[in-house]
Amino acid sequence: MARVLLLVLAASLVALASSKGLPVLAPVTKDTATSLYTIPFHDGASLVLDVAGPLVWSTCEGSQPPAEIPCSSPTCLLSNAYPAPGCPAPSCGSDRHDKPCTAYPSNPVTGACAAGSLFHTKFAANTTDGNKPVSEVNVGVLAACAPSKLLASLPRGSTGVAGLANSGLALPAQVASTQKVANRFLLCLPTGGLGVAIFGGGPLPWPQFTQSMDYTPLVAKGGSPAHYISLKSIKVENTRVPVSERALATGGVMLSTRLPYVLLRRDVYRPFVGAFTKALAAQPANGAPVARAVKPVAPFELCYDTKSLGNNLGGYWVPNVGLAVDGGSDWAMTGKNSMVDVKPGTACVAFVEMKGVEAGDGRAPAVILGGAQMEDFVLDFDMEKKRPVIISLFITVQCTSSTTACNK
Ligand SMILES: *[C@@H]1O[C@H](CO)[C@@H](O)[C@H](O)[C@H]1NC(C)=O
Repeated sequence: MARVLLLVLAASLVALASSKGLPVLAPVTKDTATSLYTIPFHDGASLVLDVAGPLVWSTCEGSQPPAEIPCSSPTCLLSNAYPAPGCPAPSCGSDRHDKPCTAYPSNPVTGACAAGSLFHTKFAANTTDGNKPVSEVNVGVLAACAPSKLLASLPRGSTGVAGLANSGLALPAQVASTQKVANRFLLCLPTGGLGVAIFGGGPLPWPQFTQSMDYTPLVAKGGSPAHYISLKSIKVENTRVPVSERALATGGVMLSTRLPYVLLRRDVYRPFVGAFTKALAAQPANGAPVARAVKPVAPFELCYDTKSLGNNLGGYWVPNVGLAVDGGSDWAMTGKNSMVDVKPGTACVAFVEMKGVEAGDGRAPAVILGGAQMEDFVLDFDMEKKRPVIISLFITVQCTSSTTACNK
Protein backbone atom coordinates (compact mmCIF):
# COMPACT_ATOMS: atom_id res chain seq x y z
CA MET A 1 0.00 0.00 0.00
CA ALA A 2 2.69 2.45 1.06
CA ARG A 3 4.76 1.47 -1.97
CA VAL A 4 1.84 2.17 -4.31
CA LEU A 5 1.38 5.54 -2.65
CA LEU A 6 5.06 6.33 -3.12
CA LEU A 7 4.83 5.46 -6.82
CA VAL A 8 1.78 7.67 -7.18
CA LEU A 9 3.60 10.45 -5.40
CA ALA A 10 6.70 10.03 -7.57
CA ALA A 11 4.56 10.10 -10.71
CA SER A 12 2.80 13.25 -9.61
CA LEU A 13 6.13 14.88 -8.76
CA VAL A 14 7.28 14.24 -12.34
CA ALA A 15 4.03 15.77 -13.59
CA LEU A 16 4.59 18.75 -11.31
CA ALA A 17 8.13 19.33 -12.54
CA SER A 18 6.91 19.66 -16.12
CA SER A 19 4.41 22.35 -15.23
CA LYS A 20 6.70 24.28 -12.91
CA GLY A 21 5.99 27.93 -12.43
CA LEU A 22 2.43 28.19 -13.68
CA PRO A 23 -0.36 29.32 -11.40
CA VAL A 24 -3.31 27.04 -10.77
CA LEU A 25 -6.90 27.99 -11.47
CA ALA A 26 -10.06 26.71 -9.82
CA PRO A 27 -13.66 27.69 -10.59
CA VAL A 28 -15.53 29.02 -7.55
CA THR A 29 -19.20 28.17 -6.99
CA LYS A 30 -21.50 29.93 -4.54
CA ASP A 31 -23.76 27.53 -2.68
CA THR A 32 -27.18 29.13 -2.54
CA ALA A 33 -28.31 27.31 0.61
CA THR A 34 -25.35 28.38 2.77
CA SER A 35 -23.89 31.38 0.88
CA LEU A 36 -20.50 29.67 1.15
CA TYR A 37 -18.09 29.28 -1.76
CA THR A 38 -16.56 26.03 -2.95
CA ILE A 39 -13.84 24.89 -5.34
CA PRO A 40 -13.45 21.41 -6.82
CA PHE A 41 -10.95 19.30 -4.88
CA HIS A 42 -10.67 15.97 -6.64
CA ASP A 43 -12.90 13.18 -7.95
CA GLY A 44 -16.11 15.19 -7.68
CA ALA A 45 -15.57 16.35 -4.10
CA SER A 46 -15.33 20.03 -3.32
CA LEU A 47 -13.87 22.12 -0.53
CA VAL A 48 -15.35 25.20 1.12
CA LEU A 49 -13.17 28.30 0.81
CA ASP A 50 -12.34 29.79 4.19
CA VAL A 51 -10.32 32.94 3.69
CA ALA A 52 -9.39 32.97 7.39
CA GLY A 53 -8.68 29.23 7.71
CA PRO A 54 -5.14 28.01 8.44
CA LEU A 55 -5.48 24.41 7.19
CA VAL A 56 -6.78 22.22 4.41
CA TRP A 57 -9.01 19.54 5.89
CA SER A 58 -11.20 16.82 4.49
CA THR A 59 -12.94 13.64 5.47
CA CYS A 60 -10.56 10.82 4.62
CA GLU A 61 -12.99 7.89 4.87
CA GLY A 62 -10.32 5.67 6.34
CA SER A 63 -8.90 4.96 2.89
CA GLN A 64 -5.81 7.11 3.12
CA PRO A 65 -3.09 6.10 5.51
CA PRO A 66 -1.89 8.92 7.74
CA ALA A 67 1.27 10.69 6.60
CA GLU A 68 4.23 9.72 8.75
CA ILE A 69 4.68 13.05 10.45
CA PRO A 70 5.98 13.03 14.01
CA CYS A 71 4.35 15.25 16.57
CA SER A 72 7.56 17.22 17.16
CA SER A 73 8.26 17.89 13.45
CA PRO A 74 8.18 21.39 11.95
CA THR A 75 5.25 20.35 9.73
CA CYS A 76 3.23 19.31 12.76
CA LEU A 77 4.06 22.59 14.47
CA LEU A 78 2.82 24.42 11.37
CA SER A 79 -0.43 22.48 11.42
CA ASN A 80 -1.04 23.58 14.98
CA ALA A 81 0.29 27.11 14.73
CA TYR A 82 -3.18 28.68 14.97
CA PRO A 83 -5.45 26.65 17.23
CA ALA A 84 -9.08 27.65 16.71
CA PRO A 85 -10.88 29.08 19.75
CA GLY A 86 -12.41 26.28 21.79
CA CYS A 87 -10.27 23.51 20.28
CA PRO A 88 -8.00 21.44 22.52
CA ALA A 89 -4.49 22.82 22.93
CA PRO A 90 -2.15 20.72 20.78
CA SER A 91 0.42 18.81 22.79
CA CYS A 92 2.89 16.04 22.10
CA GLY A 93 2.97 14.85 25.70
CA SER A 94 6.16 13.43 27.17
CA ASP A 95 6.76 10.69 24.57
CA ARG A 96 6.85 13.39 21.91
CA HIS A 97 9.27 11.64 19.59
CA ASP A 98 7.13 8.59 19.11
CA LYS A 99 3.74 10.14 18.60
CA PRO A 100 2.28 10.85 15.17
CA CYS A 101 1.05 14.38 14.51
CA THR A 102 -2.48 15.33 15.52
CA ALA A 103 -4.09 18.37 13.91
CA TYR A 104 -7.32 20.08 14.97
CA PRO A 105 -9.40 20.98 11.93
CA SER A 106 -12.26 23.33 12.71
CA ASN A 107 -15.54 24.10 10.99
CA PRO A 108 -15.62 27.82 10.13
CA VAL A 109 -19.41 28.03 10.41
CA THR A 110 -20.17 26.09 13.58
CA GLY A 111 -16.81 26.53 15.28
CA ALA A 112 -16.72 22.79 16.05
CA CYS A 113 -13.36 21.05 15.87
CA ALA A 114 -12.02 17.52 15.92
CA ALA A 115 -8.70 15.76 16.25
CA GLY A 116 -7.30 14.20 13.09
CA SER A 117 -4.09 12.96 11.55
CA LEU A 118 -2.47 14.54 8.51
CA PHE A 119 -2.63 12.72 5.18
CA HIS A 120 -1.35 13.26 1.67
CA THR A 121 -4.03 14.02 -0.87
CA LYS A 122 -4.33 15.92 -4.12
CA PHE A 123 -5.91 19.09 -5.44
CA ALA A 124 -6.85 18.42 -9.08
CA ALA A 125 -6.93 21.64 -11.08
CA ASN A 126 -5.70 23.28 -14.26
CA THR A 127 -2.64 25.41 -14.59
CA THR A 128 -3.26 28.69 -16.37
CA ASP A 129 -1.24 31.14 -18.43
CA GLY A 130 -3.64 33.89 -17.41
CA ASN A 131 -5.69 33.37 -20.52
CA LYS A 132 -6.64 29.74 -20.83
CA PRO A 133 -6.12 26.43 -19.03
CA VAL A 134 -2.77 24.86 -19.91
CA SER A 135 -2.80 21.40 -18.38
CA GLU A 136 -4.37 19.43 -15.59
CA VAL A 137 -2.26 18.91 -12.49
CA ASN A 138 -2.64 17.01 -9.28
CA VAL A 139 -1.14 19.31 -6.71
CA GLY A 140 -0.04 17.26 -3.72
CA VAL A 141 -1.40 18.73 -0.50
CA LEU A 142 -1.22 17.77 3.13
CA ALA A 143 -4.67 17.81 4.69
CA ALA A 144 -6.01 17.13 8.14
CA CYS A 145 -8.38 14.19 8.34
CA ALA A 146 -11.76 15.09 9.81
CA PRO A 147 -14.75 12.97 10.87
CA SER A 148 -17.81 13.51 8.67
CA LYS A 149 -19.69 15.13 11.56
CA LEU A 150 -17.37 18.11 11.13
CA LEU A 151 -19.15 18.80 7.80
CA ALA A 152 -22.30 20.04 9.56
CA SER A 153 -23.65 23.30 8.04
CA LEU A 154 -21.30 23.09 5.03
CA PRO A 155 -22.64 22.81 1.46
CA ARG A 156 -23.79 19.44 0.15
CA GLY A 157 -21.06 17.71 -1.81
CA SER A 158 -18.23 19.36 0.08
CA THR A 159 -15.86 17.11 1.97
CA GLY A 160 -13.96 19.75 3.88
CA VAL A 161 -12.41 23.18 3.90
CA ALA A 162 -9.62 24.89 1.99
CA GLY A 163 -8.08 27.46 4.33
CA LEU A 164 -6.67 30.48 2.51
CA ALA A 165 -5.09 32.22 5.48
CA ASN A 166 -1.49 33.29 5.83
CA SER A 167 -0.14 30.07 7.30
CA GLY A 168 2.24 27.33 6.20
CA LEU A 169 -0.38 24.63 5.60
CA ALA A 170 -3.08 26.81 4.04
CA LEU A 171 -3.82 25.99 0.41
CA PRO A 172 -1.99 28.98 -1.18
CA ALA A 173 1.25 28.17 0.67
CA GLN A 174 1.01 24.49 -0.26
CA VAL A 175 0.36 25.24 -3.93
CA ALA A 176 3.27 27.69 -3.81
CA SER A 177 5.71 25.10 -2.56
CA THR A 178 4.63 22.19 -4.77
CA GLN A 179 4.09 24.24 -7.95
CA LYS A 180 7.05 26.58 -7.36
CA VAL A 181 4.83 29.64 -7.66
CA ALA A 182 4.30 32.68 -5.46
CA ASN A 183 2.45 32.44 -2.16
CA ARG A 184 -0.28 34.61 -3.53
CA PHE A 185 -3.87 34.11 -4.66
CA LEU A 186 -6.52 35.97 -6.57
CA LEU A 187 -10.12 35.63 -5.61
CA CYS A 188 -13.14 36.67 -7.62
CA LEU A 189 -16.20 35.49 -5.72
CA PRO A 190 -19.37 35.18 -7.81
CA THR A 191 -22.87 36.31 -6.90
CA GLY A 192 -24.07 33.31 -8.88
CA GLY A 193 -22.56 31.16 -11.62
CA LEU A 194 -18.82 30.55 -11.54
CA GLY A 195 -16.17 32.79 -10.08
CA VAL A 196 -12.49 32.03 -9.98
CA ALA A 197 -9.59 31.45 -7.61
CA ILE A 198 -6.05 31.55 -8.97
CA PHE A 199 -3.18 30.31 -6.82
CA GLY A 200 0.33 31.50 -7.56
CA GLY A 201 -0.24 35.01 -8.90
CA GLY A 202 -0.22 36.54 -12.36
CA PRO A 203 -0.43 36.94 -15.27
CA LEU A 204 -3.91 38.24 -14.55
CA PRO A 205 -6.87 37.20 -16.66
CA TRP A 206 -7.99 40.83 -16.60
CA PRO A 207 -5.21 42.64 -18.51
CA GLN A 208 -7.48 45.62 -19.08
CA PHE A 209 -7.40 46.38 -15.36
CA THR A 210 -3.74 46.03 -14.48
CA GLN A 211 -3.11 49.74 -14.87
CA SER A 212 -5.85 50.87 -12.53
CA MET A 213 -5.65 48.56 -9.56
CA ASP A 214 -5.97 49.93 -6.08
CA TYR A 215 -3.74 48.56 -3.38
CA THR A 216 -4.02 48.42 0.34
CA PRO A 217 -1.54 46.69 2.62
CA LEU A 218 -2.63 43.41 4.12
CA VAL A 219 -1.91 43.55 7.82
CA ALA A 220 -0.91 40.62 9.97
CA LYS A 221 -2.29 40.44 13.47
CA GLY A 222 -0.44 38.50 16.14
CA GLY A 223 -2.00 35.15 16.95
CA SER A 224 -4.31 35.16 13.94
CA PRO A 225 -3.65 33.70 10.49
CA ALA A 226 -6.48 35.78 8.97
CA HIS A 227 -5.99 38.61 6.51
CA TYR A 228 -6.58 42.09 7.88
CA ILE A 229 -6.67 45.48 6.22
CA SER A 230 -6.68 48.97 7.72
CA LEU A 231 -9.62 51.31 7.42
CA LYS A 232 -9.31 55.06 7.74
CA SER A 233 -13.03 55.75 7.68
CA ILE A 234 -16.42 54.44 6.65
CA LYS A 235 -18.49 56.65 4.41
CA VAL A 236 -22.17 56.51 3.59
CA GLU A 237 -22.96 58.47 0.44
CA ASN A 238 -19.61 60.25 0.79
CA THR A 239 -20.40 61.41 4.32
CA ARG A 240 -18.08 60.12 6.97
CA VAL A 241 -19.73 57.93 9.60
CA PRO A 242 -18.82 59.47 12.99
CA VAL A 243 -16.39 56.76 14.10
CA SER A 244 -12.86 57.72 15.03
CA GLU A 245 -9.91 56.44 13.06
CA ARG A 246 -8.62 55.14 16.36
CA ALA A 247 -11.73 53.02 16.92
CA LEU A 248 -11.29 51.47 13.48
CA ALA A 249 -7.59 50.90 14.11
CA THR A 250 -8.22 49.01 17.35
CA GLY A 251 -8.87 45.51 16.20
CA GLY A 252 -8.66 46.27 12.48
CA VAL A 253 -10.75 44.86 9.67
CA MET A 254 -10.75 41.13 9.18
CA LEU A 255 -11.69 39.45 5.90
CA SER A 256 -13.91 36.41 6.22
CA THR A 257 -15.99 34.20 3.96
CA ARG A 258 -17.79 32.60 6.89
CA LEU A 259 -20.85 34.86 6.80
CA PRO A 260 -22.58 36.62 3.92
CA TYR A 261 -22.69 39.91 5.82
CA VAL A 262 -20.53 42.37 7.75
CA LEU A 263 -20.12 42.25 11.50
CA LEU A 264 -19.45 45.60 13.15
CA ARG A 265 -18.32 46.09 16.72
CA ARG A 266 -20.94 48.03 18.68
CA ASP A 267 -18.96 51.30 18.71
CA VAL A 268 -18.88 51.16 14.90
CA TYR A 269 -22.30 49.63 14.34
CA ARG A 270 -24.49 52.23 16.08
CA PRO A 271 -23.06 55.25 14.20
CA PHE A 272 -23.22 53.26 10.95
CA VAL A 273 -26.92 52.45 11.40
CA GLY A 274 -27.63 56.11 12.13
CA ALA A 275 -25.77 57.27 9.02
CA PHE A 276 -27.33 54.65 6.76
CA THR A 277 -30.93 55.28 7.78
CA LYS A 278 -30.42 59.02 7.50
CA ALA A 279 -28.94 58.72 4.00
CA LEU A 280 -31.71 56.34 2.92
CA ALA A 281 -34.36 58.75 4.16
CA ALA A 282 -32.71 61.54 2.16
CA GLN A 283 -32.69 59.59 -1.12
CA PRO A 284 -36.22 60.43 -2.35
CA ALA A 285 -35.01 64.03 -2.80
CA ASN A 286 -32.80 62.60 -5.57
CA GLY A 287 -35.63 60.71 -7.20
CA ALA A 288 -35.36 57.39 -5.36
CA PRO A 289 -38.55 55.70 -4.21
CA VAL A 290 -39.41 55.85 -0.49
CA ALA A 291 -38.00 52.69 1.10
CA ARG A 292 -40.61 50.99 3.29
CA ALA A 293 -39.15 49.38 6.41
CA VAL A 294 -40.55 45.96 7.29
CA LYS A 295 -40.27 43.69 10.32
CA PRO A 296 -36.58 42.82 10.66
CA VAL A 297 -35.44 39.27 10.00
CA ALA A 298 -32.72 38.13 12.43
CA PRO A 299 -29.83 38.72 12.58
CA PHE A 300 -30.55 41.89 10.64
CA GLU A 301 -32.00 45.09 12.05
CA LEU A 302 -32.77 47.16 8.94
CA CYS A 303 -35.04 45.38 6.46
CA TYR A 304 -37.13 46.74 3.60
CA ASP A 305 -39.89 45.74 1.26
CA THR A 306 -38.02 45.04 -1.99
CA LYS A 307 -40.89 46.49 -4.03
CA SER A 308 -40.31 49.82 -2.33
CA LEU A 309 -36.58 49.83 -3.11
CA GLY A 310 -35.48 51.12 -6.48
CA ASN A 311 -33.02 49.15 -8.58
CA ASN A 312 -30.06 50.34 -10.55
CA LEU A 313 -26.90 48.86 -12.03
CA GLY A 314 -25.44 48.44 -8.56
CA GLY A 315 -28.39 46.40 -7.26
CA TYR A 316 -30.92 47.92 -4.87
CA TRP A 317 -30.93 51.71 -4.88
CA VAL A 318 -29.57 52.30 -1.40
CA PRO A 319 -26.87 54.65 -0.11
CA ASN A 320 -23.37 53.69 -1.24
CA VAL A 321 -21.05 52.49 1.48
CA GLY A 322 -17.39 53.33 1.03
CA LEU A 323 -14.60 51.83 3.05
CA ALA A 324 -11.68 54.24 2.87
CA VAL A 325 -8.75 51.84 3.14
CA ASP A 326 -5.15 52.51 3.99
CA GLY A 327 -3.42 53.51 0.76
CA GLY A 328 -5.97 56.09 -0.24
CA SER A 329 -8.66 54.21 -2.15
CA ASP A 330 -12.24 53.31 -1.44
CA TRP A 331 -13.73 49.85 -1.33
CA ALA A 332 -17.05 51.07 -2.73
CA MET A 333 -20.14 48.99 -2.09
CA THR A 334 -23.43 49.48 -3.83
CA GLY A 335 -26.66 47.68 -2.98
CA LYS A 336 -25.25 44.57 -4.64
CA ASN A 337 -22.71 44.16 -1.84
CA SER A 338 -24.45 45.97 1.02
CA MET A 339 -27.91 44.37 0.88
CA VAL A 340 -28.94 40.77 1.31
CA ASP A 341 -32.19 39.12 0.18
CA VAL A 342 -33.49 37.24 3.19
CA LYS A 343 -36.81 36.03 1.82
CA PRO A 344 -39.02 36.82 -1.14
CA GLY A 345 -39.96 40.49 -0.92
CA THR A 346 -37.56 41.37 1.92
CA ALA A 347 -34.01 42.65 1.70
CA CYS A 348 -31.90 43.72 4.66
CA VAL A 349 -28.86 45.88 5.16
CA ALA A 350 -26.01 43.36 5.39
CA PHE A 351 -24.38 44.89 8.46
CA VAL A 352 -24.91 43.24 11.83
CA GLU A 353 -23.77 44.05 15.34
CA MET A 354 -21.04 41.74 16.67
CA LYS A 355 -22.30 39.71 19.63
CA GLY A 356 -20.46 39.04 22.85
CA VAL A 357 -18.02 41.89 22.33
CA GLU A 358 -17.88 45.19 24.21
CA ALA A 359 -17.85 48.46 22.31
CA GLY A 360 -14.25 49.44 21.66
CA ASP A 361 -12.76 46.09 22.73
CA GLY A 362 -9.56 45.95 20.69
CA ARG A 363 -9.29 42.18 21.08
CA ALA A 364 -12.14 41.89 18.56
CA PRO A 365 -11.87 43.29 15.03
CA ALA A 366 -13.76 46.57 14.56
CA VAL A 367 -15.16 45.15 11.32
CA ILE A 368 -15.41 41.62 9.90
CA LEU A 369 -16.15 41.78 6.19
CA GLY A 370 -18.20 38.89 4.84
CA GLY A 371 -18.15 36.96 1.60
CA ALA A 372 -20.99 38.90 -0.05
CA GLN A 373 -19.02 42.12 0.39
CA MET A 374 -16.14 40.66 -1.64
CA GLU A 375 -18.29 39.42 -4.54
CA ASP A 376 -17.45 40.77 -7.98
CA PHE A 377 -14.23 42.35 -6.78
CA VAL A 378 -10.87 40.93 -7.75
CA LEU A 379 -8.92 40.50 -4.55
CA ASP A 380 -5.24 39.79 -4.78
CA PHE A 381 -3.75 38.39 -1.59
CA ASP A 382 0.00 38.62 -1.91
CA MET A 383 1.68 37.08 1.08
CA GLU A 384 5.22 37.44 -0.23
CA LYS A 385 5.53 41.18 -0.54
CA LYS A 386 7.13 42.12 2.71
CA ARG A 387 6.89 45.95 2.70
CA PRO A 388 4.20 47.15 2.36
CA VAL A 389 3.54 43.80 3.92
CA ILE A 390 1.00 42.31 1.63
CA ILE A 391 -1.10 43.98 -0.95
CA SER A 392 -4.59 43.37 -2.13
CA LEU A 393 -6.35 45.09 -4.92
CA PHE A 394 -9.94 45.57 -5.79
CA ILE A 395 -11.44 46.21 -9.13
CA THR A 396 -15.03 45.63 -9.99
CA VAL A 397 -15.69 43.00 -12.60
CA GLN A 398 -18.35 40.45 -13.27
CA CYS A 399 -16.65 37.49 -11.67
CA THR A 400 -18.88 35.17 -13.62
CA SER A 401 -18.01 36.41 -17.07
CA SER A 402 -14.33 36.75 -16.25
CA THR A 403 -14.22 33.05 -15.50
CA THR A 404 -15.77 32.28 -18.82
CA ALA A 405 -13.01 34.38 -20.31
CA CYS A 406 -10.25 32.43 -18.60
CA ASN A 407 -11.76 29.05 -19.45
CA LYS A 408 -12.05 29.83 -23.14
C1 LIG B 1 -9.34 21.78 -17.00
O1 LIG B 1 -9.82 22.52 -18.11
C2 LIG B 1 -10.58 21.75 -19.04
C3 LIG B 1 -10.89 22.65 -20.22
O2 LIG B 1 -11.52 23.82 -19.85
C4 LIG B 1 -11.84 21.24 -18.33
O3 LIG B 1 -12.60 20.46 -19.21
C5 LIG B 1 -11.41 20.42 -17.11
O4 LIG B 1 -12.54 20.00 -16.40
C6 LIG B 1 -10.50 21.21 -16.21
N1 LIG B 1 -10.01 20.35 -15.15
C7 LIG B 1 -10.08 20.65 -13.87
C8 LIG B 1 -9.52 19.65 -12.93
O5 LIG B 1 -10.57 21.69 -13.46
